[in-house]
Amino acid sequence: MALVNAKEMLTKAKEGHYAVGQFNINNLEWTKAILLTAEELKSPVILGVSEGAGKYMCGYTTVVAMVKAMINELNITVPVALHLDHGSYEGAKACIKAGFSSIMFDGSHYPIDENVEKTKELVAICNEKNLSLEAEVGSIGGEEDGVVGAGECADPDECKMIADLGVTMLAAGIGNIHGKYPENWQGLNFDVLANIQKLTGKMPLVLHGGSGIPEEMVRKAIDLGVSKVNVNTECQLAFADATRKYIEAGKDLQGKGFDPRKLLAPGFEAIKATVKEKMELFGSVGKA
Ligand code: 13P
Repeated sequence: MALVNAKEMLTKAKEGHYAVGQFNINNLEWTKAILLTAEELKSPVILGVSEGAGKYMCGYTTVVAMVKAMINELNITVPVALHLDHGSYEGAKACIKAGFSSIMFDGSHYPIDENVEKTKELVAICNEKNLSLEAEVGSIGGEEDGVVGAGECADPDECKMIADLGVTMLAAGIGNIHGKYPENWQGLNFDVLANIQKLTGKMPLVLHGGSGIPEEMVRKAIDLGVSKVNVNTECQLAFADATRKYIEAGKDLQGKGFDPRKLLAPGFEAIKATVKEKMELFGSVGKA
């Protein structure tokens, strides 16, 4: 199956009151684990690539080639979108050129007029190329691959301005944070979320910082209009934890336990388990 944009899967998610997971990829193991889990669970999936991860994986064209080849070699039949995460204006253009099927342009750090201006230009390009486009208003707290946000909640009127440009999905800051949530976190701001959805109509909303949000809050966010949830840190923590246990148990020193195919296997399985848990929580299982 070829890469698809995220329009149809998110429209269906919106109508069906569930969410599609975006899982960020970092390398071959990550990509394979996520694709295989999506296929096993018959779930649509969005592979997220930050600019930093794109660079790490030897550039966007390498990522596109790897993902396309893997979909083919693994006989993946569920819809897969390859999505730039928190793209700059230049990054968005580079990923469009490289063959991504979905783009996030994060103009949230610009004054709103400039965010509108640049998003509008990218809406036209993405429409012409049949790609989905995610925009952002307000900001996601914390840091992801050098993208830092103060975490201010989005202004619903500004969300409407951006939604009216014809973007596919909208990320709005509602108290969510990239990375681990601090002990004193106040939780998601559901009033702001409800207001944004009221003003933006059927616009699929995106919940960034999906790692570590209590399940009840995730369910409520989906009830209030979230159709895409982004997860990155939880897969990283699961991978690191499983790998540490393997090494600490001295398994790399037994027989050929140092073979990377053995050494990375527990982490790979841990990513699969995390993705499965999230897909079940988001309700996307069986929706492909
Ligand atoms: P987490 O790393 O907190 O899961 O956030 C992922 C994300 O929002 C990607 O944009």
